[in-house]
Formats: sequence, C-alpha cells, structure tokens
Amino acid sequence: AADPVKVMKEEVGKAAAALVKSNSVVGLGTGSTTAYAIQYIGERLKSGELKDIVGVPTSFQAEVLAKQYGIPLTTLDAIAHIDIAIDGADEVDPQKNLIKGGGAAHTREKVVDYLANQFIVVIDAGKLVDKLGSSFAVPVEVIPMAMTPVMNAIKKLGGKPELRMGVRKAGPVITDQGNMVIDVRFDDIPDPVNLEKTLNNIPGVLENGIFVNCADIVLIGEVIDGKPSVR
Ligand code: A5P
Repeated sequence: AADPVKVMKEEVGKAAAALVKSNSVVGLGTGSTTAYAIQYIGERLKSGELKDIVGVPTSFQAEVLAKQYGIPLTTLDAIAHIDIAIDGADEVDPQKNLIKGGGAAHTREKVVDYLANQFIVVIDAGKLVDKLGSSFAVPVEVIPMAMTPVMNAIKKLGGKPELRMGVRKAGPVITDQGNMVIDVRFDDIPDPVNLEKTLNNIPGVLENGIFVNCADIVLIGEVIDGKPSVR
C-alpha cells in the first residue's frame, strides 16, 4: 500500500500547482512536498495548460527539480516581483506561523517566500501544531567561524543548540551558501515574533527558520477514511 504521508504530500503539492497561473513568476520552495508541486507545474507546462511562467528556486534542490521538469528559471535581479510562492514547512501553528529549514534551505526560502504576493504553504496534516517548537527544533544558519559564540549566545537565551550533522556526508551539513546549521530546542516559544528577531540579532547568525506573518494560504493534505483530500 502507498505510504499515506507520501500520498498527502503529493495531493497537496498537486493542489498548489493548480493555483499557478500563466504569465507569472513562481517561487519554488524546497522539500519533499514542494517537489510534487514542482513536478505538477512542469506537467501543466508540458501539456500546454500553463504558459509563460518563470521560477525562482529557493535551493539547489528546487533548481535541479525545475530543470528536470522543464520549468524556466530566473533570478531576483531579473524580475520586479514574485506572484506566487509555494513552499513546505516543518511546523504550522494556528496563527500560520511556521518553522522551516528541515532541509537547511530556510534562508533563501525566507527571501523568496516573503517577497511573493501570495505565499502558499503545503503540508501534510502531521505538521500542524498548537504551539510552535513543540515537536521541531528551530534551525539557525550560522557562518562557520561564529559557530561557538552563536551556540553560547543561544544557550543564554535558554535554547539547547545542536550542530546539524550530515546523513550521507561526514561532518556537518553545509548549506547552499556554505554555512552550518544549528538546530535549537526550546522548552517553550511564548513569542515567535520576538524569538525570530532575537536569534537573527546574534552576530554570525545569517537567518533562522521562524517565519511569521507571511503565509497567505496553508494547504493541508489529509487522508480521511483511506481517501486523500486537501483542505
Ligand atoms: C527546507 O529547508 C524546509 O523549509 C522545507 O520546506 C520543510 O522542511 C518541509 O519539507 P518537507 O515537505 O520535505 O517535509
């Protein structure tokens, strides 16, 4: 039988791809859910249903997938605006605040997603939380020479920092920008708006994975009575 989480991701990715209109600039997010959106945008282009779109990738992953599925790409220097961005998330709270960066791509994602006129978040139902940080650590991208002082500053804030290590790579994960990622557990995040700013104020921090006041629509993939649906 098909993995239900995969089914939810595919359904929601497809639903997001259906929202893309011809003649638009599309922010292409990162992760396994967005990968389906990129695939289906490519298929809509191929069938001729969709015309004249150009993508702005948020990572090497998005860039590779876009090339694979025939989506033309551009850069932020060449365009005036982004019409729609589609991106995944690791946690979403009832206020549509997000934790992102499970794929270490949150820095470029934040640039692209915040610029978009419409930011669509695509998740499976398992990503919904009552409180941000309840199941996922906050990813913090840090320039390598600042790793130790940043970790110390994070501990002072009450966070438990852990350097993210590679899975099929020896040593730390290196981001698309050549930096490292510190995953930070907090017992409680009472004020995500403030924590986002506080973390980014630590010298040596490039960007953290808390996204507030930016998601316009959250599409949620579910499986109800064995049937996939999107709400
Ligand atoms: C990438 O850095 C992340 O922000 C992803 O968007 C997030 O981890 C969601 O990924 P999945 O769709 O693979 O769960």
